[in-house]
Amino acid sequence: MSVRVHPSILSADFVNFERDFSSISSCDSIHVDVMDGHFVPNLTFGLPMVARMQEVAERPLDVHLMIENVDTLAVRYADTGVQSVTFHLEATRDAVSLARKIRAAGARAAIAVKPGTGLEDVLSNLPEFDMILVMTVEPGFGGQPLLEATLQKVADARAAIDKSGLEILLQVDGGIDASNIARVAKLGADTFVAGSAVFKAADRNEQIAHLRDLASATP
Ligand code: DX5
Ligand code: ZN
Repeated sequence: MSVRVHPSILSADFVNFERDFSSISSCDSIHVDVMDGHFVPNLTFGLPMVARMQEVAERPLDVHLMIENVDTLAVRYADTGVQSVTFHLEATRDAVSLARKIRAAGARAAIAVKPGTGLEDVLSNLPEFDMILVMTVEPGFGGQPLLEATLQKVADARAAIDKSGLEILLQVDGGIDASNIARVAKLGADTFVAGSAVFKAADRNEQIAHLRDLASATP
């Protein structure tokens, strides 16, 4: 299983995104947290900013939408040409039709669940998704500790993906760092978002390689 590291730019310098992109040039994709101040109690940026990031970024963008009105807005993010668009199960009225619209717009469709949300509705529609995001913190802020209680869902999702034989990425987001990434990889995650763990490092590319090695060391 190949391991991917997606630095979250929630921990970047918000007036120097382009400069910070170049400091993480070895990442697999750049994780872009869109927050609207309603779905989560924090506000970042919206569509014009993501469209511009897509123009300047040299790595693919992995857009994580923490917004209301996702049923109408998600496709507009997919239309910018980003690699993947992740929406929250809690924010959509119809996850399957939204995933189909995102795929039709040319992006990978990904679905996220908050720590308190079960995976049943995701696992019963697995072929509709290219990636599952198990949130390992309550969405909204970087730098929080990983919630251990979320890890059973990682194992459950891995078992279901393997059983299905489908190629679906299993992403974790929140509190991932060098102290826990190997353990979370062992449970079956293959795509790791890391905000503070990457951006606080003196050499961010070195830290990305270190995290990737720790996660890959899993038998
Ligand atoms: C939290 C965001 C995460 C966040 C992760 O709501 O979705 O992507 O930036 O940051 P760390 O890795 O610092 O927990
Ligand atoms: Zn995120």
